[in-house]
Amino acid sequence: MYFNSHTKIGLGTWRMGESAITQSSEIQAIEHAVSIGYRLIDTAEMYANGQAESLIGKALKNLGPSIRPSLTLVSKVLPTNASSQGMIKACEASLRRLGCEYLDLYLLHWKSSYTFEQTIEGFLKLKDKGLIKHHGVSNFDVSDLKKWSDTEKSMGLSPSESLATNQVYYSLGARGIEFDLAPHLAREKISLMAYSPIDGGELMRHKELAVLASSLNITPAQLALAWTVRHPNTVAIPKSVSKSRIEENWASKDLSLSPQTLATLDRLFPPPRAKTSLAVI
Ligand SMILES: NC(=O)c1ccc[n+]([C@@H]2O[C@H](COP(=O)([O-])OP(=O)(O)OC[C@H]3O[C@@H](n4cnc5c(N)ncnc54)[C@H](OP(=O)(O)O)[C@@H]3O)[C@@H](O)[C@H]2O)c1
Repeated sequence: MYFNSHTKIGLGTWRMGESAITQSSEIQAIEHAVSIGYRLIDTAEMYANGQAESLIGKALKNLGPSIRPSLTLVSKVLPTNASSQGMIKACEASLRRLGCEYLDLYLLHWKSSYTFEQTIEGFLKLKDKGLIKHHGVSNFDVSDLKKWSDTEKSMGLSPSESLATNQVYYSLGARGIEFDLAPHLAREKISLMAYSPIDGGELMRHKELAVLASSLNITPAQLALAWTVRHPNTVAIPKSVSKSRIEENWASKDLSLSPQTLATLDRLFPPPRAKTSLAVI
């Protein structure tokens, strides 16, 4: 799937919509993100039982219809809904909440007990109906992707009908995927969407990261995000409801890190030396 400089950093929405008290400021935060240039928004039917999607729908309504074609809207189907029929109902419900006619990218949130064949059939039906443009998965390791690809082949699908994205946990504090998953995605031309790229805020407590960021006149979040999206195949979706942090995170897309900075980060957050099980939040 094609991502560009406007979709390098997207907006995550997990934990939005959970409280009626904060909803209007969350809608304003989403509107602010789009108004300063964000074009990628990540959500899921699971987030606040659909309320995160509803907030995005309200923000998009306030922004007006002309904005929709420029956006890349991503949502995810729950594994319990990932049957061929269940996905149609789930996607239609997501679209109703979002107030949109289609999703740009629809992901299987994590592996389900339905066969891959059933879920692939669901994605293909949704494409035929014009309800989604691309599909992908989340929290899939190399072995899952190989099995998925074998299923596609057995169904006689062409490469253009294959996965656009795998959304996985990837940050300075969670580098395990660099051992084999990230190279596999690059080889297979599947984009890597990094979730929890600042470790849910945990990285902000890392003293040496703060010192390094300060020496570069940037913030620790900007350093962590610029590092996460340093490869062209990777985008990141930090979540924030603060307008200033939304701006801070957005600015990281234009930063490039020197070999010296990358080496220091490798020392502080060593890359994996062996296969580890896929980290999941
Ligand atoms: N596919 C999956 O299974 C999966 C799993 C987890 C997450 N996700 C997606 O990935 C998105 C991002 O992951 P995440 O929300 O877990 O974690 P994250 O984006 O790494 O961190 C979000 C936390 O960091 C804070 N924060 C954001 N920007 C900051 C900054 N510049 N300085 C200091 N603190 C900052 C936020 O607080 P404020 O809001 O107060 O700024 C929030 O508490 C989610 O929202 C969701 O869309 C997907």
